[in-house]
Amino acid sequence: MSFETSQDVLNWYERQERTLTDDFIENLPWNTVEDTPLDKRFIPVLLYMRDVEVLTDMYHRELRRTPTGRDPVIAKFMERWGVEEVTHGQVINRFLNEAGYDTPSDWQDRTMKNVPGNYHLSTYFLTSLTNLLGSRFTATHMAFGAIHEMSTAQAYRRMKLLARHPVLSQILDGIIREEAAHTNFYRSVARIELAKSETAQKIARKVVETFWRPVGQGSLAKKRTEYSIATLFSDEGGVDQLDRTVTQRARQLPGFADLTKVTQRISDICDKLRPKRVAASLMMLITINLDAII
Ligand SMILES: [Fe+2]
Ligand SMILES: [Fe+2]
Repeated sequence: MSFETSQDVLNWYERQERTLTDDFIENLPWNTVEDTPLDKRFIPVLLYMRDVEVLTDMYHRELRRTPTGRDPVIAKFMERWGVEEVTHGQVINRFLNEAGYDTPSDWQDRTMKNVPGNYHLSTYFLTSLTNLLGSRFTATHMAFGAIHEMSTAQAYRRMKLLARHPVLSQILDGIIREEAAHTNFYRSVARIELAKSETAQKIARKVVETFWRPVGQGSLAKKRTEYSIATLFSDEGGVDQLDRTVTQRARQLPGFADLTKVTQRISDICDKLRPKRVAASLMMLITINLDAII
């Protein structure tokens, strides 16, 4: 798919039907969720995914303060994007509840309130800074967004592969389809904007190199980010899949040909936490064997 203008991209996006409609959600086989056990190690990851999704509401408010947020085409996209991401968080929360993991009724408010104060302060400075860049910030915002959307979709794919839970898989397939549409929007507008000027490419590249962190890090505790990434990507093939589907695709953007940042960061987190995961698995094996002997 190749588009000439961001309006063309928006027209395409608006033709995409929602997957996670109220009907889709209501018709999921919720009464069968407990028939398949869910490995407990995925609970903190699903809670992390849920919180990141509903925090989109906050990011959306922040982005409205930036030059791209005031661009009518991008603002129109973000209106729907913001709603879709929040649905993702809510449907994940419902899945957790149906699987027997209760969450407080005000979990959305709590997630918002738990965002650290220094996050709001640094975001305030960052959004103020983007106003100095004006419309040149659009390319950066779109490239950043494309990387976030691509990595989020891969995290969901890994969750589906590892958790092997039939109802969760149906939910994740729906979410992944919507994330793919978000990716296509961000990536297509990024390509158009980056191609306009070398300065835009340099700024976007510098910002990604300096500020890119895995989705949610900063607004949620770093240890939650790292646990989620290590759980999803540490196993064989995880980092390679991320490199193939995120970093190598991001490299196709003008000015991003030799990007290594995303793979490097995820790989570093996996390396850092792998010894802990190996130790935990060994402990589990020892316990199982001792149980068998006793
Ligand atoms: Fe999402
Ligand atoms: Fe998304």
